[in-house]
Amino acid sequence: MENVVTLKSAHKPLAVPVSDRTRVLVTGADGFIGSVLTPLLLERGFDVVGLDTGFYRAGLLYHDGKDRPATLTRDVRTLTAKDLEGFDAVVHLAELSNDPLCQHDPKKTYEINHLGSVALAKAAKDAGVSRFVYASSCSVYGAAGDSTKTEASDPDPQTAYAHCKMLVERDVQALADGGFSPTFLRNATAFGASPRIRFDIVLNNLAGLAWTTGRISMTSDGTPWRPLVHVQDICGAVAATLEAPREAVASQVLNVGDNDNNYRVRQIAEAIGEAFPNCKIEFGNNAGDNRSYRVSFDKIHQVLPGFRCAWTADRGARQMRALFEHIAMAEPEFNAPPYTRLRQLQRLLETKQINSDFYWRQHDLS
Ligand SMILES: NC(=O)c1ccc[n+]([C@@H]2O[C@H](COP(=O)([O-])OP(=O)(O)OC[C@H]3O[C@@H](n4cnc5c(N)ncnc54)[C@H](O)[C@@H]3O)[C@@H](O)[C@H]2O)c1
Repeated sequence: MENVVTLKSAHKPLAVPVSDRTRVLVTGADGFIGSVLTPLLLERGFDVVGLDTGFYRAGLLYHDGKDRPATLTRDVRTLTAKDLEGFDAVVHLAELSNDPLCQHDPKKTYEINHLGSVALAKAAKDAGVSRFVYASSCSVYGAAGDSTKTEASDPDPQTAYAHCKMLVERDVQALADGGFSPTFLRNATAFGASPRIRFDIVLNNLAGLAWTTGRISMTSDGTPWRPLVHVQDICGAVAATLEAPREAVASQVLNVGDNDNNYRVRQIAEAIGEAFPNCKIEFGNNAGDNRSYRVSFDKIHQVLPGFRCAWTADRGARQMRALFEHIAMAEPEFNAPPYTRLRQLQRLLETKQINSDFYWRQHDLS
């Protein structure tokens, strides 16, 4: 879409093309995925604006030297259609982003993740934004045992986080029409390096433990299935969705990952053991976590033929080791609150930097 500024002159109006690139708003731009996604979208020629309330900005594990877009410090719950005018697409990542965080306060989770996301989609539709890419999750499949789930399988969410993902998919799909095309990307569990690292996701957590303590004691017996996907591959899927013809991705639900990256937790630990050979790994006897699912990733390769996953758990484990060596990561960094999302939000609540509705409180430091 071409945005045109018309400058009035004494003679005739002069039309200056400001941008003929696709204008994309990325919510959650300063999160784990967002801080890898926004540089990638800029590199692929999109005109990008970021938005993030900044819960985890206190943590920046390393400098990647990449250009980033201007990013607004706003809560998505305050956005109106007026704020979204002029965008061609919204990529919506900004939510409370994992199970423990959401179990901690399910009511707030529904307000932010379910109601907040649906309100954002409505505002986008009212503003004439034609594409809405939603970061859903394979966790909607829940306790699936050994069966392989496809996009046509019935969801069976086990947690408030996963239940909200399902509700957002349902309610945003109901908004779809000829002018508004949502796409639902059900990402597998992410791993890999991002400047806004998360150490509360399985592979990154195990890698950090291996590096800082030389010991991994798992409560799980290692049998649950957990599909993984590298953060760069998630970002590749988002870019491919934005680049695909709208009719190819409109109202599509796509599992994001690769069939070869369905791992048992034990195999993830083994990949860590290969990359960190001095690390001792022990398994427990399952501590009641019944989330286990294998997922088929056939559909995304049909709908987005250019998409492929470049990363495996082995390669990701080696990447984490190279990163820790590069920055000489020490234990206080590994355990710093911003890298464990629940710990950081608890800290912000305890110190009253955010209120019980998760809005920042104003504090006069003058
Ligand atoms: N990382 C994964 O394994 C994974 C897997 C599947 C789906 N997802 C989904 O992808 C999205 C991004 O995940 P992530 O790992 O980057 O999470 P993250 O927690 O690192 O990033 C989320 C970002 O959103 C921001 N945010 C949260 N609530 C907000 C609000 N109300 N207003 C404005 N900003 C807000 C946070 O400050 C944070 O920077 C989430 O929706 C998550 O559920 C992630």
